[in-house]
Amino acid sequence: MCGIVGYIGNKKDTLDILMNGLKHLEYRGYDSSGIAYMTSSRLVIKKEAGKLENLKETIDFNDESNIGIGHTRWATHGVANKINSHPHKFGDIVIVHNGIIENYLELKQKLIKKGYEFISETDTEVAAALLNDLYIKDYNMPKAIEKFKEIVRGTYAIIVMSIKENDCLYVIKKGSPLVIGISDDGYYIGSDILAFIKYTNKYVTLLDYEYAKIEMHKLTIFSETNQEKKYTINEIDIDNNEVSKNGYKHYMLKEINEEPAIVRKILNNKIDIDLKKYKKIVIVGCGSAMHAGVIGVNLLREYANIDANIEIASEFRYKKLFLDKDSLVMAISQSGETADTLEAVKIAKEHGAYTIGIVNVKDSSIARCVDNVIYTECGPEIAVATTKAYLGQVLIMILLTVNNCIFSELVKDFKKDINKLPFLVQNLIDNTELIQKLAKKIYKKEHLFFIGRGIDYAISLEGSLKLKEISYIHSEAYAAGELKHGTISLIDKDTPVIGIVTDKKIADKTISNMKEVKARGAYVIYVTLDSLYKEGDFYDDVIIIPTLNELLNPILTIIPLQLLAYYVAKLKKCDIDKPKNLAKSVTVE
Ligand code: G6P
Repeated sequence: MCGIVGYIGNKKDTLDILMNGLKHLEYRGYDSSGIAYMTSSRLVIKKEAGKLENLKETIDFNDESNIGIGHTRWATHGVANKINSHPHKFGDIVIVHNGIIENYLELKQKLIKKGYEFISETDTEVAAALLNDLYIKDYNMPKAIEKFKEIVRGTYAIIVMSIKENDCLYVIKKGSPLVIGISDDGYYIGSDILAFIKYTNKYVTLLDYEYAKIEMHKLTIFSETNQEKKYTINEIDIDNNEVSKNGYKHYMLKEINEEPAIVRKILNNKIDIDLKKYKKIVIVGCGSAMHAGVIGVNLLREYANIDANIEIASEFRYKKLFLDKDSLVMAISQSGETADTLEAVKIAKEHGAYTIGIVNVKDSSIARCVDNVIYTECGPEIAVATTKAYLGQVLIMILLTVNNCIFSELVKDFKKDINKLPFLVQNLIDNTELIQKLAKKIYKKEHLFFIGRGIDYAISLEGSLKLKEISYIHSEAYAAGELKHGTISLIDKDTPVIGIVTDKKIADKTISNMKEVKARGAYVIYVTLDSLYKEGDFYDDVIIIPTLNELLNPILTIIPLQLLAYYVAKLKKCDIDKPKNLAKSVTVE
């Protein structure tokens, strides 16, 4: 959600560097973009609504520059048009911003009284005006930034370029991600490392309330209390194949194909955490991460006898929480930057609870905030709709359950079965013929339902979200037994209903619900284990999942559902990797 990039250094192809950076941040989600750079004689600002290609057409790539900033905007304050897109300029100051300035209306009124006129609806233009107002007092940028930090409420990762000081950039951070890449050719700035990984794998992470002055050959970082501070340079190993499509048509398909290797990698890590010592366990997350949490809750309750509960991270702060030092809050997040999940961790800590993060992106805000972090080790995930990272989160949940399982025989079986998992995951990915056939039957429909009970309902939640987010078909996951209490009125002739049946204890009950919808004309797809399969006239098509240890059912079952979503979206010619309105990393509340 919003991406910022910047460059200052010896190179003259700043425009290429900025555009390449923005390209690599596209996955975060955006609806307009812009850049600003200085040549030897002038400041140039270009911005456009829509895709980066629109911006690219307006740029004169013959311009030589060694200092510039860029932005992809995901509209929050004001529609996605050219005027609202960044960079925003006031006086000598040009900025790009990721985050939300919460007190911008109050600041705007004050600035209007001082004679400032605004042309956009954005909070960022107000931030630019405020910074300009503070700067023109004595043209001392550090002082202006320090004052800015005191006045502004909200979240921000900002890059500041000043016409008066055309040999340096400033960055300020609070709550939104910002990293500085370091190379012999200069300094790169990005919302994440992918923005500059093509040029360097060395980086420094800025902490909240810190700011930095970045000159051609010098980086100075100032602490929360505005003192110059020492910093450590980190290195990351990202293979170029990990950030390219590597021959696949879409990142989503490539990432699904990485799942067997990820399973192997996660299984090599030892996860040994005693969860039984906590009186209360709450799992928090958003979107698919929350769905992985629902799987975790089901497993921990059933197999570890632990009273675990799920909370949607964006609702967490509004609840009376009953947390204390004997509580554990587990935050699940691919990006490690989701604002609501991060806030939930902070609230949990305020209550004295112990916090564990299950996070994919190293060094991310959530990873740094929690008491203990388990990395999902899935590598960069570019497609907005998560697949491999969700799978990694679920596998970690399974391993935590095994670690705390009260059924020793089941654990023994699990250890025997686990080696077969990567192979079976691969098989499910390779056999797409049936899935493509089913996609053809579904892709023209407007509504669709997933039903299941217990763990099968938890799997349905993710299957349904995957399908709706990339294919735009309205899809709902319903607890199978609840369907008849209202929603069944939406079932018409040929309405697709996907029934998930992997838990033998409740298989017959879900099958009864499938019969109910079939009797009303639904087109029913039955997703079940080979060992549970039942013949009958309650379904039209069947997806068979191989039987392994029952703890592993959520892993194997989600794969055909991820592929189904992919092929439906492909038939509908949707923008699979960058679905409309969505952002990969949601850094606002
Ligand atoms: C966004 C993404 C979802 C993701 C959710 C949580 O809404 O589009 O795919 O599941 O954020 O993201 P996180 O990075 O915290 O896992």
